[in-house]
Amino acid sequence: MSVMNYRKGTGAETSWIIEETSFHEKYTGKCESIFTQGNGYLGLRNSLEERYVDTVRGMFITGTFNKASKEEATELPNVSDIVNMEIELNGERFSMTEDNLKEYSRTLNLYTGETCRNVLWEGKNGNVVQLSFHRFVSYKNVHVIGAYVEIKPVNCDVKATVVSGINAQVTNNGAQHLTEVSKRAFDEKYLQMGMVTTESEVVIAVSTVHDVFLDGEKTEETAYKIVDDRRKIHAKIQLDIPKGETARVEKISTVHSSRDLEYTGSGKEPDKETVYANGLENLKEAECKGYRTLLQESREVWEAIWKKQDIVIDSREDDAQVAVRFALYHLQIMVRKEDNRVGIGAKALSGEGYKGHSFWDTETFIFPYFQMAEPEVARTLLEFRYKGLYGARKKAKENGYKGAMYPWEAAWISDGEVTPYITGVNVHTGEPLICLTGVIEQHITSDIIFALWQYYTATGDQDFMDRYGYEMIIETARFWNSRLEWIEENNRYEIRDVIGPDEYKEHVDNNAYTNYMAHENMRLAAQVIACIRDEKKDIYGKMQKLMQEEGTSLEQLEEELKDKMKKLYLPQPDEKTGIIPQFDGYFDLKEIDLSVYKNASVVGTVFHDYSGEDVQKMQAGKQADIVELLYQMEDITTPDNKAKNYVYYEARTLHDSSLSKAIHSITACDLGMEKEAYEMFMSAALTDLGQEMKSSDAGIHSANMGGVWQDVVMGFGGVRIHDGHLRIRPNCPKQWEKFTYPIYWKGNKLDVTVCKDGVEVINEGTAFMAEIMGQMVTVEKGKNEFLA
Ligand code: BGC
Repeated sequence: MSVMNYRKGTGAETSWIIEETSFHEKYTGKCESIFTQGNGYLGLRNSLEERYVDTVRGMFITGTFNKASKEEATELPNVSDIVNMEIELNGERFSMTEDNLKEYSRTLNLYTGETCRNVLWEGKNGNVVQLSFHRFVSYKNVHVIGAYVEIKPVNCDVKATVVSGINAQVTNNGAQHLTEVSKRAFDEKYLQMGMVTTESEVVIAVSTVHDVFLDGEKTEETAYKIVDDRRKIHAKIQLDIPKGETARVEKISTVHSSRDLEYTGSGKEPDKETVYANGLENLKEAECKGYRTLLQESREVWEAIWKKQDIVIDSREDDAQVAVRFALYHLQIMVRKEDNRVGIGAKALSGEGYKGHSFWDTETFIFPYFQMAEPEVARTLLEFRYKGLYGARKKAKENGYKGAMYPWEAAWISDGEVTPYITGVNVHTGEPLICLTGVIEQHITSDIIFALWQYYTATGDQDFMDRYGYEMIIETARFWNSRLEWIEENNRYEIRDVIGPDEYKEHVDNNAYTNYMAHENMRLAAQVIACIRDEKKDIYGKMQKLMQEEGTSLEQLEEELKDKMKKLYLPQPDEKTGIIPQFDGYFDLKEIDLSVYKNASVVGTVFHDYSGEDVQKMQAGKQADIVELLYQMEDITTPDNKAKNYVYYEARTLHDSSLSKAIHSITACDLGMEKEAYEMFMSAALTDLGQEMKSSDAGIHSANMGGVWQDVVMGFGGVRIHDGHLRIRPNCPKQWEKFTYPIYWKGNKLDVTVCKDGVEVINEGTAFMAEIMGQMVTVEKGKNEFLA
């Protein structure tokens, strides 16, 4: 059954509209997540106005983390339901079933960020009514949400009741994060709820107002009553709508918190009254403008974004274009671009999944997009990690290490590690279910530094390095320096007892990805220590002081790093097969046929037949691991071995994480495996967008949005940062005639068009050297053509 349609848009709207073509009550989660609207500050799930059983309504404000109780991990609170509108038409509750809909279409316009639902509904009493619902979250004034419903009776007059307001009875899966502090109706129309998070004491103000229009004219004549209840305040609006006429209820809302960026200048969080007053004032201003003007303002911001960020694919065969725009849309709404106190959640702001926490998903999957397409945002994301040094140092100490050990899951900047250790209970035994990633999945520390160095290479941002970068590299290398274990019988340093990227394998020794990335982290540190000693005496002095406070010195660290790097075990390709062992003993694990699980439409089916312990002993991986390593560090082996490793490990990978397929596709591109690369790409691109209706319920897969971008630009586009320069080795898929992507290189804005017979680069900046299709060439200012 195809529910999702990607070809609704025609003319200027071609490949910009995603449509849900039919309504099924059991699938409400899909479009709630994938049609999420936002601006990085705010994320609003696209729930339907009227309630359905499986709905998970959600609105999240970045950075407002709270612990519902001492035992629970901090998470991003579900703030309240501002979407709900209960509508009664001639005494019958408006609710859709598969039978009472004569017409149904629900769309997300990626170009404007607006969603629309058009419904022709026939009530039990034979009344036919047309309803049209519209909504957007402003990208201009990030606190504002606009919505309206239009009700047009087709074959009768209608007495309609609309109950709509603010409902703070929502929870995060039952956990309540907010205390209701104040509830007010001002001027008999502006409704406001003031709340405070239970532990972190973040003040939140949600405000809303309704205006009614009859046949386009605003009317104050409507019967309007304010109703309040526990954690709720609503307006009850009564409308008499003659047959053929249209009534419109417009609802403008604002959302504010005491952690808003605007307040940071004062150095302290504002009091409740200030937050409430600002929420109300913003609401009144927004109401004066009205839905259309507010939407237009927001649309202009989106237009500017698309002008800079769009990737244009000339493909007649499939839906690649709309899928790539869908990924870009979500990349644009997942991060508060100017705020270096907040990261990106693994589900962004689109659902409760992963509690709003940031993982390596940010640096390894999402960051490359920002680094190449919006470098100032990449810098903000790195500054977030700089601020996170406090928590990373705390984590290192707690675990008996030195320096900075980044949390596997991060929330508010000072929190440190927030991965829940106990994730549930085995109901048969009563034993707690333990999650070890927060303790032994350690590669994130070097992933952050790897991203940092790529950023520095691509942008040359020396100011970032001076203020933050050197310190981050040195502090993280100190962690690894203390983490390596000397193994006497092997006469080498090793990294034992970790989880690598493949999370189906716990407590492994010498995961190749972890070891190589740690080595790179240490190598960079040794390099920058030498550099700052000679060229940045002030930074050297600052770092030296920090070391001395801990009874060591930069000289000693440099010595130790150099020594340990030489002796750190880096798993090598097997002499006969060329395969790098994913970790010690990998080749001895049992081989099984994975095809049935790999081809299943949902992930995790291997556990239908095997226990976690069984899978631990099998050559069955969750996601790219060695393949990830060879993507990031291609020079550690020969191209021939890279191909062998790809084939070997792909056969042993279940792709049970959305972080897997795009990386495999890029590697397949590198290896000239066109068909496989394209199939993997389309499969990754349809992770959330596709016809599988249940896999996105907890929120979108944000890393995969970055993965899709990387697949187009790094995979088919052939872009890589290699040996300090830009490399472009394109692989135009046969399904595409040509495609154009924008990137930045050292401050130069480039528009790269890849076609069947070569590459065109329009350089808006100054000339620089790059490797393009195997040749070192000068990319001049203006238009450059390179033919294959
Ligand atoms: C993956 C991790 C990822 C996390 C959050 C897990 O299922 O195995 O690699 O960081 O999801 O997306």
